[in-house]
Amino acid sequence: MAENYKVADIGLAEAGQLKIEWAEARMPVLMALRKKYSESQPLKGQRIAGCLHVTKETAVLVRTLKAAGAEVTWSGCNPLSTQDEIAAALAAEGIPIFAWHGQNRDEFYWSIDRTLDNKPTLTLDDGADLITSVHVRHPELIRYVTGGTEETTTGVHRLRAMAAAGALKYPVLAVNDAETKWDFDNVYGTGQSSIDGILRATSVLLAAKNFVVAGYGHCGRGVAMRAKGMGAHVAATEVKPTAALKATLEGIQVKTMVEAASWGDIFITATGMKDVITGAHFDLMRDGAIVCNTGHYDCEINIGDLEERAVSKRTIRDNCEEYVLKDGRRIYLLAQGRLVNLACAEGHPSEVMDMSFANQFLGMMRLAAEGSDMSPKVYDISEAQDQELAAIKLETMGLAVDTLTAEQVAYANDYLEGT
Ligand code: ADE
Repeated sequence: MAENYKVADIGLAEAGQLKIEWAEARMPVLMALRKKYSESQPLKGQRIAGCLHVTKETAVLVRTLKAAGAEVTWSGCNPLSTQDEIAAALAAEGIPIFAWHGQNRDEFYWSIDRTLDNKPTLTLDDGADLITSVHVRHPELIRYVTGGTEETTTGVHRLRAMAAAGALKYPVLAVNDAETKWDFDNVYGTGQSSIDGILRATSVLLAAKNFVVAGYGHCGRGVAMRAKGMGAHVAATEVKPTAALKATLEGIQVKTMVEAASWGDIFITATGMKDVITGAHFDLMRDGAIVCNTGHYDCEINIGDLEERAVSKRTIRDNCEEYVLKDGRRIYLLAQGRLVNLACAEGHPSEVMDMSFANQFLGMMRLAAEGSDMSPKVYDISEAQDQELAAIKLETMGLAVDTLTAEQVAYANDYLEGT
């Protein structure tokens, strides 16, 4: 039988399996869901196409979806984020997976298309490239799909815009907007993994560096918090006054990017917006400035502007490009402006992806059960799901919460109670 996968090297499967085992030991919520549903197989008959970073944590999700009865096909959602040993391990387990590190644009979309060959009933996205592919390039497949989920802030923004324009043709659950996702994964996951990526790519000391975070949303805030904890002087740039206010009250300096450009030693973008660092900023940067991005797409740093100003370019370390500018200043760009946490490190730690992917799994379950009765809109994850997941997570950590007494519940609902 012809092999139904394309990965860099199937010989890496054993190394990948060990890493997945490592992740499984740190994802107790997802593992409990696997155990709970592997007998009843509620996803039997579902064909799930996934387009999400191929990491050890994602592999735990894929195995869990399969254990619950689904047929799963997979591609990565970023050309530089696939961990080849994980892709090999999943291929060796019989998952039709089309993913390898260092894909070009054509290979990236070819891989997505291969996952669609199976005519999915559900789509699972990180960044909305899969949904967009179905809607724009393969509209003939829409009739098979009962719903989809979306993992990330950028993807949810795009899908809300699509829904507002009347272009979204099936219901989507905004996994990103679950409290047990954004309040943990985006903050602590992005915070730790982005710093991890910067350190693996550069090995520099963070203490006493001037560290600029563009965007003080959940992700930027997480990165700023961790950089500050390691002794960096941290500044944030923002376009939203309330976010800037939050930053300054949390002890983070607020600067415009023009002000920050000549001040910073290290720059990281976390905005979801294009052209956050452009030629005007490169013109002001210090010799030796390090620049990287942790947003979903590689448009936050205008690399064309950097290339225009450079007289030479070389790879000085893995994932670290040195650009020498006309006046002799050197600028170091990490991971070609792509997600520094996934391209230079391993992405968010398993413990935090546990909750994000438990939300993905429950999202798939809900769509399998109810998707055909739902309108083509973007839906939030329910408060009940959030609280249930948080309670299971706490339990796995050996922690408990108190319960309101009947008197306290009555007090909470008594609008006549005064001093
Ligand atoms: N996004 C950020 N970190 C990730 C991880 N470890 N696995 C999958 N997607 C991610």
